[in-house]
Amino acid sequence: MSSAMLRLAAVERRYRTEAGELPVLRGAELEIAPGEIVALVAPSGTGKSTLLHLAGLLERPDGGEVFIGGKAAGKLSDKERTALRRSEIGFVYQFHHLLPEFTAEENVVLPQMMAGVARAKASARAKELLGGFGLQGREHHRPGRLSGGEQQRVAIARALANEPKLLLADEPTGNLDVGTSDRVFTELLTAVRGRGLAALIATHNPELASRMDRVVTLKDGKIT
Ligand SMILES: Nc1ncnc2c1ncn2[C@@H]1O[C@H](COP(=O)(O)OP(=O)(O)OP(=O)(O)O)[C@@H](O)[C@H]1O
Ligand SMILES: [Mg+2]
Repeated sequence: MSSAMLRLAAVERRYRTEAGELPVLRGAELEIAPGEIVALVAPSGTGKSTLLHLAGLLERPDGGEVFIGGKAAGKLSDKERTALRRSEIGFVYQFHHLLPEFTAEENVVLPQMMAGVARAKASARAKELLGGFGLQGREHHRPGRLSGGEQQRVAIARALANEPKLLLADEPTGNLDVGTSDRVFTELLTAVRGRGLAALIATHNPELASRMDRVVTLKDGKIT
């Protein structure tokens, strides 16, 4: 029995394209212990986003298995996978993916309400999280009125809203300028370490990767 927070066992993923089958992951293996922060650094097109989507239970692999906290996700129904994802996993995208019609606070409240948290409690937690990312006074702004760095901070707060044990991030500061990227990334790492979360964070930036506990890469569909 593995004590890993995230385990990928012989994970395969193929895409069907006009040119035929494109094997992206061919038996990827990875274990991340509770509290361990791992950087995923690999060239464009090698399958980083694919891997993160599989680990985040947003997609199902064509082969192999994804274990979250020791639980085999492939054996679960869609409903059970959604529940597991909501309770255990936070996901940060490269482009914030915030709901444009909702305020910063509402974007952090919604995932909590979907998990069954009462509105008042969810609002209090959203305010606290946003405050922790320097966004006090901005809670009622819609994403369109926030800077890129602020939008990503809201997206990070949203990912942490349901107190996940695993944080997955796909180039979370990839669309920010160097200075902002560095600041937001530092805040993200501090938040992840402070909460003792396991994390898998894709980045193109070797300096950012060097600040994590371990660096892995993807080559020929395998993790090395
Ligand atoms: N839905 C899809 N249908 C067909 N091919 C896809 C699909 N999604 C991804 N691919 C292909 O799979 C490969 C891996 O894509 P992926 O997005 O995982 O790479 P990546 O490492 O995240 O790249 P980047 O650094 O540019 O974000 C690419 O060749 C891509 O074109
Ligand atoms: Mg990608």
